[in-house]
Amino acid sequence: MLNITPLQPLFAARIEGVDAAQPVAAPVMAALRDALDRYSVLVLPGQHLDDAAQIAFSEGFGALEQTRPGALGAGSAVIVLSNMGPAGEIVAPSDKQVLNNKANRLWHHDSSFKPVPARASLLSARQIPSAGGNTEFAFMRGAFAALDAAEQQRLKQLAAWHDFGWSRARVDAALVSDAERAQHPPVRQAVVLQENPYGPALYLGAHARSIDGMGDAESRALIESLMAHATEDRFIYSHRWSPHDLLIWDNRAVLHRATPFASTTERRHMVRTTVAGQGPTIAAAA
Ligand code: OGA
Ligand code: MN
Repeated sequence: MLNITPLQPLFAARIEGVDAAQPVAAPVMAALRDALDRYSVLVLPGQHLDDAAQIAFSEGFGALEQTRPGALGAGSAVIVLSNMGPAGEIVAPSDKQVLNNKANRLWHHDSSFKPVPARASLLSARQIPSAGGNTEFAFMRGAFAALDAAEQQRLKQLAAWHDFGWSRARVDAALVSDAERAQHPPVRQAVVLQENPYGPALYLGAHARSIDGMGDAESRALIESLMAHATEDRFIYSHRWSPHDLLIWDNRAVLHRATPFASTTERRHMVRTTVAGQGPTIAAAA
């Protein structure tokens, strides 16, 4: 039914045999959901999608998030990641659109700063630069599995504070407004997610500010050493985009980031839909 070709020894696969612009039969959709659980990143080449088609296909994975105020596409189910203005012009480097793209160059899980963070993201390439602008993934199930048992046990007990205002301000002070800070107060997330049928995953990324109950210095040291481990080459798949690629990733199993490109002279225009998580990563604080 689906033609699945692994792209990396541990995770990520190319999927052929499905047209995402047409209604997808239930057994095919079930196979795609299982492939997402198993491979965590799916690459579907040759998908000619407009926003409506991308939304309809994405809904096969679950209910979609609405785009947060302050991002391009706010209030709809699509978020636009682009360095182009409404007339197709390249926007200034100081533009919030470009700063948001800069923030995406840090390893992150989409919406880990929300009380119920995203499950999956679907990203389609509408316009790509001639070089650079890859999307890279780090396999957090593999990173967890490679830790020794005592460390795994210890990490399973921990929660991290994810703080959008803090992480955005680290990229650029102009990137986060008081309204956005108020919209996204810090939230606690499990450091190890144990919901995937193929194994537990580390869960950290750019929004993870500190470890609950741990001092700042010790928190930063632990988070940074785990991030360095998780982003070793052996856990990475770097996707070089072709026109009409559609990527699907499991935010609860991989980190991702964008790589730089010549953003003042070349255009890059991507459209994302985001599948909501089915529940919090940790029981609500008592
Ligand atoms: C995203 C994202 C990276 C990229 O769509 O959530 O972080 O390569 N994208 O555009
Ligand atoms: Mn992202």
